[in-house]
Amino acid sequence: MRYRPRWTGTAALLGGSAIWALVLVSCMTTSRTMVAPPMIAGATYVGSQKCAQCHEDTTKHFDDATHAKLAAAESKLPETGCESCHGPGSLHVKAGGGAGTIVNPGNSPETCFRCHLDKRGEFTLPSTHPVLAGKMGCGDCHDPHSGNAVASVTDAEALNAACLKCHTSQGGPYVFEHEASREGCVVCHSPHGSVNAKMLKARNQNLCLQCHFQEQTSPTSILIGGREHATFLPRGTCWSAGCHEAVHGSHVSSSLRF
Ligand code: HEC
Ligand code: HEC
Ligand code: HEC
Ligand code: HEC
Ligand code: HEC
Ligand code: HEC
Ligand code: HEC
Repeated sequence: MRYRPRWTGTAALLGGSAIWALVLVSCMTTSRTMVAPPMIAGATYVGSQKCAQCHEDTTKHFDDATHAKLAAAESKLPETGCESCHGPGSLHVKAGGGAGTIVNPGNSPETCFRCHLDKRGEFTLPSTHPVLAGKMGCGDCHDPHSGNAVASVTDAEALNAACLKCHTSQGGPYVFEHEASREGCVVCHSPHGSVNAKMLKARNQNLCLQCHFQEQTSPTSILIGGREHATFLPRGTCWSAGCHEAVHGSHVSSSLRF
């Protein structure tokens, strides 16, 4: 789903609680549902400048961050950047960082789901990253504190770097590279989840036919990359059946075999 951020009447309705309104407006533009901001019993909002006193490293590049820009766009409202994800910080500040006084979304994706509701569904698909199981967080792939929260799809190298932190072996170097990966791991994988095994975008040859066109030259002949494939295709996927198992790259064969 694409978001269409636009101003709504929420702030007016809520009158004084302008800070809440910002959070709610942001949520409404994404999901059109009213969802409560993260709560910490008894705490109130203090604003991002307060956080900078003790977390300079995190705050330093925040102006460039996707969500900071979002908050800045609603410039009539006080800035709530940090607290839109971490919850109201007054008790945390007062305690000088005491345990249990602030939300850490690194431990749970719930903060993110409030505004990105559709993502919860994606992470319940049969093949997914173990985010709901608490073994990793959204922040492992998205930097919430600086730059684009999602590396640009036009910058495949940056996009792949996020994956290769953990999946080192798929990055090569290979003797025979598969140029597909230069367009990003996401041309073949849906990192939030998929109905197909290994988070694949398609379970059969359609995955590969995105880029390798097949040519039906006669009723019994199908050419892919100039080679006859008619008898191969019914045997399995392109990467099983003893064909191109080394989809990420190969050390032994330019046809991507082990
Ligand atoms: C007076 C200093 C101080 C201020 C102001 C402050 N913090 Fe902290 N914060 C700390 C300390 C100390 C820790 C614990 C650091 C550690 O254990 O490494 C901490 C930890 C955290 C954590 C991690 C908590 C966890 O359970 O892992 C988050 C998130 C956090 N702060 C966010 C914020 C936000 C958001 C603000 C502004 C609303 C803020 N802090 C303001 C001192 C402060
Ligand atoms: C878009 C949501 C979001 C916003 C906005 C945000 N954070 Fe975070 N913050 C996170 C996530 C997610 C983590 C977990 C860290 C990770 O997984 O890398 C985190 C972790 C932290 C931590 C703990 C770091 C650690 O090493 O455990 C601190 C401190 C913190 N944030 C401070 C801030 C401050 C200060 C701001 C405002 C300048 C801010 N955050 C804005 C999402 C956010
Ligand atoms: C207060 C609501 C809110 C919270 C909380 C929130 N987001 Fe967002 N986020 C948004 C909105 C609104 C956008 C803008 C969407 C757009 O312009 O495409 C956005 C954008 C993003 C994008 C970039 C989308 C793009 O196409 O460039 C990513 C990635 C993202 N958020 C991840 C997260 C993660 C991870 C968390 C939790 C740590 C989080 N968000 C928490 C509201 C929120
Ligand atoms: C394993 C890495 C990974 C994890 C974990 C992850 N994401 Fe993403 N996410 C990506 C990548 C890569 C893209 C870009 C997808 C593309 O370009 O096709 C993306 C795109 C997005 C976008 C913008 C495009 C869209 O699909 O709407 C949002 C918003 C987002 N993620 C939110 C989240 C939230 C919230 C979480 C945690 C619940 C999360 N992501 C966890 C890798 C991840
Ligand atoms: C923080 C570490 C981390 C990052 C970053 C990460 N992954 Fe993963 N990935 C995992 C874990 C953990 C699993 C689950 C392994 C398991 O269940 O055995 C996994 C599983 C997978 C699987 C399925 C493996 C299988 O055998 O079913 C694929 C495919 C995958 N990741 C692709 C990606 C892509 C693409 C990206 C970048 C967008 C990415 N991962 C980023 C940790 C990570
Ligand atoms: C051309 C499509 C394609 C691209 C691009 C691609 N993958 Fe894969 N990936 C696959 C296929 C197909 C499988 C399943 C292989 C199997 O089942 O034998 C797979 C499997 C995986 C697995 C599971 C372990 C394994 O090898 O079976 C991981 C992890 C993975 N890919 C990570 C990545 C990462 C990280 C990138 C980017 C550097 C990437 N993939 C790029 C097609 C691709
Ligand atoms: C994003 C586009 C893209 C996708 C998707 C893709 N490939 Fe490729 N592949 C390429 C490019 C580019 C080359 C190098 C130029 C060429 O040989 O066509 C290549 C080369 C190959 C080669 C080597 C051809 C030769 O004779 O040297 C094989 C084999 C191959 N791909 C198999 C696959 C398989 C199997 C899949 C599906 C799992 C797949 N490709 C998906 C882009 C892609």
